[in-house]
Amino acid sequence: MVNYSYQLNFESTMKTKFFGAVCFMVLTFSPLIWAMDMGKMQEDDNRQSLGIKGTMQGAHQLSNMREHLTALSEIVKYMNSDQYDEASKIATEKLGLTLEKNTMCGSFKNQSFEQMGVRFHKSADNLAQTLKTKDSKKSMLALEKVMNGCVLCHSTFKQ
Ligand code: HEC
Repeated sequence: MVNYSYQLNFESTMKTKFFGAVCFMVLTFSPLIWAMDMGKMQEDDNRQSLGIKGTMQGAHQLSNMREHLTALSEIVKYMNSDQYDEASKIATEKLGLTLEKNTMCGSFKNQSFEQMGVRFHKSADNLAQTLKTKDSKKSMLALEKVMNGCVLCHSTFKQ
């Protein structure tokens, strides 16, 4: 009997200690995690703004961007089924440099955005040419360059 109640006391003391430890950890680490999240948000804010958020131009840009992503996915799909000519056609038509895309890249009145955009579209034309050779290794390298163009611009600019 004595033993039994001792054991109960021991268990409840351990539970209290454990609960205390959990509270301590939550109180100590939540502000830290919150601060880390804020840090990430501030990192995002370092991107240069084009000043087009919520505008018609901005909506148009996002719709174009979604098409860019679809194009990449189609290119990879065609490459995986050895349809290199089809993949090349998508690269030219959806991502390659045209007069329209050139004008679009310049319409944001930001020279470095324009340069980045034009360089990106040219890398897509290079991909289209490379895909015609049906060389998978070279095509993957050319695709990597195109994707690096997406990443570079996204880490530099926001709407
Ligand atoms: C020259 C700059 C530039 C290039 C190159 C570029 N983007 Fe974007 N993209 C942007 C900007 C600016 C935004 C808006 C981001 C923001 O405001 O946070 C955006 C947004 C997007 C979005 C979000 C769309 C939505 O509806 O919210 C997707 C998806 C996207 N881009 C895909 C791509 C892909 C895929 C590529 C490459 C094949 C690419 N982009 C190349 C500038 C670029």
